[in-house]
Amino acid sequence: MAEAGTLHDMFIDELRDTYDAEKQLTKALAKLAKASSNPKLRQAFESHLQETQGQIDRLEQIFESLDEKVRGKHCDGIAGIIEEGKSIMDEDLDETTMDACLIAAGQRAEHYEMAAYGTLVAWAQAMGHTEAAKLLQQTLEEEKAADKKLSGLAEGGINQGAADAAHADEDEEPVGAAAGSGRKSSGKAGRR
Ligand SMILES: [Fe+2]
Ligand SMILES: [Fe+2]
Repeated sequence: MAEAGTLHDMFIDELRDTYDAEKQLTKALAKLAKASSNPKLRQAFESHLQETQGQIDRLEQIFESLDEKVRGKHCDGIAGIIEEGKSIMDEDLDETTMDACLIAAGQRAEHYEMAAYGTLVAWAQAMGHTEAAKLLQQTLEEEKAADKKLSGLAEGGINQGAADAAHADEDEEPVGAAAGSGRKSSGKAGRR
């Protein structure tokens, strides 16, 4: 039997997984940006794509500082999240509804990354890899900020726009019907 792996081995393994995830995400973020209609949302995805390239550089720096080969290992987790995002893009949705769903897809990825970097920072600190911990923490902050920005856009109008469009569909009242003409507040009509 081979020698048992250590936390250091698993740390390197996680770094490789995350390195691959970031590479997958550069392609995914470009697609999310392209599919966005709201200019602020497109800008948010594009600027996070720039940041992601910096995050890849940081990981390369970390591998080098630990005398490890710069190499990725296929990240199945992010691949699944990206796959789900792609199937959203294939849906036939109005622009604002699509934007709301693109935000949802983007935030799934950000939370996955926050979990990964949270662990990496903690492990690096525990093993005394101070420089790596510092770099990983910088990336963790960027992921949190990207997530927060997406929440701000969703809650700052995109979700409401999509929600209003959903209700407009259900009410089936002629466009321009008198304002306040009894919008039902009794919940969803179970549209599929
Ligand atoms: Fe990232
Ligand atoms: Fe990210």
